[in-house]
Amino acid sequence: MNRITSIWQRRSHVPNYVFDTIESLPISAHPMTQFVIAIMALQTESHFAKRYAAGMNKKDYWDSTFDDAMDLIARLPRVASYIYRRKYKEGEHIQPNGLLDWAGNFAHMMGYEDESFKELMRLYMNINADQEGGNISAHATHLVGSALADPFLSFAAGMNGLAGPLHGLANQEVIKWIFEMREQLGIDLPSNEQIEAYVRKTLSEGKVVPGYGHAVLRKTDPRFSAQMEFGKKHMPDDPLVNTVWRVYEVVPPILQSLGKVKNPWPNVDAHSGALLVHYGMMEYEFYTVLFGVSRALGVLASLCWDRILGLPIERPKSVTTDLIKSWLKGKEEIWGE
Ligand SMILES: CC(C)(COP(=O)(O)OP(=O)(O)OC[C@H]1O[C@@H](n2cnc3c(N)ncnc32)[C@H](O)[C@@H]1OP(=O)(O)O)[C@@H](O)C(=O)NCCC(=O)NCCS
Repeated sequence: MNRITSIWQRRSHVPNYVFDTIESLPISAHPMTQFVIAIMALQTESHFAKRYAAGMNKKDYWDSTFDDAMDLIARLPRVASYIYRRKYKEGEHIQPNGLLDWAGNFAHMMGYEDESFKELMRLYMNINADQEGGNISAHATHLVGSALADPFLSFAAGMNGLAGPLHGLANQEVIKWIFEMREQLGIDLPSNEQIEAYVRKTLSEGKVVPGYGHAVLRKTDPRFSAQMEFGKKHMPDDPLVNTVWRVYEVVPPILQSLGKVKNPWPNVDAHSGALLVHYGMMEYEFYTVLFGVSRALGVLASLCWDRILGLPIERPKSVTTDLIKSWLKGKEEIWGE
């Protein structure tokens, strides 16, 4: 732990032109847009790109991929907190504290000194780092990386996917949805009946209930449970956190009754926002950036493995509309050569 902290500290310098690039964007730009553009600005530092251009044996690809991954992970908290302070705290930036660990220092640079918020960041950075390889941010990073795009380009692709509302942006959608419910009801802690009526209204408007469902999981997301445990320990009486727990009682049976939702249980995004709001982080448009900083740990480690294993370019077969039509009629074997 101390070793990785000091390695990342040594690698954490962010060149000034990256901050200049962020500054050139309108302040209204979504934090994820600013984040992705900053990652692209950092790409000029890529060891992989430089060594590839100089001519590199494919057996050595992993080495500079690892260097890029470590640099990126080390620099992302500084970039993300710069965006946060620029957009929401009148540009009053906070210098890193070399005595803190990676996640603790991230909390500090965003302006949160409460020890339990730092604890939350450690949990948050841990649970959002990875899931399986098929989710959009992991898959997009792998896919773009399979063209031997360097880790900066590949990770930026993954972050563009994370910015979609059915993926990482769901955590901002959840809190937005709860805030809207509270505003419409004019109450801080709605009853289960009031929540049920609001859920049914959401569904009747052709919208999804954010934070519920999953493409792979078929039970309550363990990352939801980990956050619930954190909430029970640190803020058991917080009305917003209690609203999340009530939503958890109400939503699964309703989704189950629709008969089409494969997983009626909450995912990781259903809980995170309420914990952040408890500490005063109200700016929910920023939440996906936190997710992105964490996600770097998982997807960049995977990219190193792609290079170590020498995985090939990913190139799904493409088919014509006529082929699909005849496949649907059962006439064509679509996957045949
Ligand atoms: C995560 C998600 C995209 C998975 O999609 P999926 O694998 O296609 O899910 P399913 O196979 O269960 O979907 C079957 C149907 O149930 C619906 N459904 C799934 N989750 C739903 C939810 N939370 N609220 C309402 N309807 C939902 C789908 O929209 C789909 O409806 P359709 O056939 O009319 O298009 C989906 O559950 C969802 O949109 N959830 C809300 C957004 C969210 O929390 N995303 C974060 C994921 S970590």
